[in-house]
Amino acid sequence: MKKRIFSGVKPSGDLTLGNYIGAISNFVKLQNDYDCLFCVVDLHAITVPQDRVELNKRIKDIAALYIACGIDPNKAHIFIQSEVPGHTQLAWILECHTYIGELNRMTQFKDKAQKLGTEGLSSGLYTYPVLMAADILLYDADLVPVGEDQKQHVEITRDVAIRFNNRYGETFVVPEHFIPKVGARIMDLQEPTKKMSKSESDKGCILLLDEPQVIRKKIMSAVTDSETEIYYNPEKKPGISNLISIYAIITNKTIDEVVEEFKGSNYGTFKRAIADKLIEKIQPIQERFKEIRNSHELDVILDRGREYANNLANRKIEQVMQKVGLGRF
Ligand code: AQP
Repeated sequence: MKKRIFSGVKPSGDLTLGNYIGAISNFVKLQNDYDCLFCVVDLHAITVPQDRVELNKRIKDIAALYIACGIDPNKAHIFIQSEVPGHTQLAWILECHTYIGELNRMTQFKDKAQKLGTEGLSSGLYTYPVLMAADILLYDADLVPVGEDQKQHVEITRDVAIRFNNRYGETFVVPEHFIPKVGARIMDLQEPTKKMSKSESDKGCILLLDEPQVIRKKIMSAVTDSETEIYYNPEKKPGISNLISIYAIITNKTIDEVVEEFKGSNYGTFKRAIADKLIEKIQPIQERFKEIRNSHELDVILDRGREYANNLANRKIEQVMQKVGLGRF
């Protein structure tokens, strides 16, 4: 039997190059060897305020982009998290098995709390890692492909699964994370010490649906440094190193090969080459996106995904309820 993968992207903004490189491009590579469930995690998006019309539009945008980026709906199951009630059911049960101390250590929450204070943050944002644990454990996923920023959330998922298994007997598969060696953390082009994020998108952030001339402009104005030499050193040269990673991923080259290729070139030549390759990569994705976004086919795919996910989820919820002693059995 094939091992299983679960992963998701939240519709909290338009998809970025970071989401593509850190997550979706790996989904595409893994889909041939695993039983894959790729989810639009809309319940995660509402942990911070969303415009309902924008949110609703983005849910189908992401599903369509999954396909446009190369996820084959005949190989992988694509569905929307809120259409499978098992996610929230299991999240509650797991919340009752997660310690406040563990949640207090989650760096994503700590960072937001430090920036904004806790007064105006939702309790959903605080318990977000438990919903993510439920997403993964609900399907007995063996592997979770994510970018570097989600590593800690996969670790807490493992801890909760082990605790639950120890208390009630073997119930959940304890998952492993899969983090790409290159591109696990694509940085903002204007502030290359900060992660490229869809909810803070501006000119430092390349969106998968940006027009080609916009992509070119963003790359050409990427912040670099006062040196002229192209080499990889994220501490000393965060801007150039980020651009090297981007070029390496989209051309399927190693960091060393890219450095060798641009030995003696200036930053302008390097940036022009990145913009060309990026546009070459993104244009077919945008064309496929336009074909599928408003098609009946997309709804059929999402209905099929929902059915597959619900079947697995319902079985798992029944098992968990019995283990914990909930309801009638
Ligand atoms: N900059 C990035 N580099 C590499 N991988 C990234 N991911 C996100 N940003 C980068 C990976 O994309 C997947 C989906 O992420 P998500 O939507 O669940 O939320 P996120 O990690 O919080 O992504 P964003 O873009 O930063 O969203 P906002 O701004 O709403 O918080 C994950 O696997 C993530 O690691």
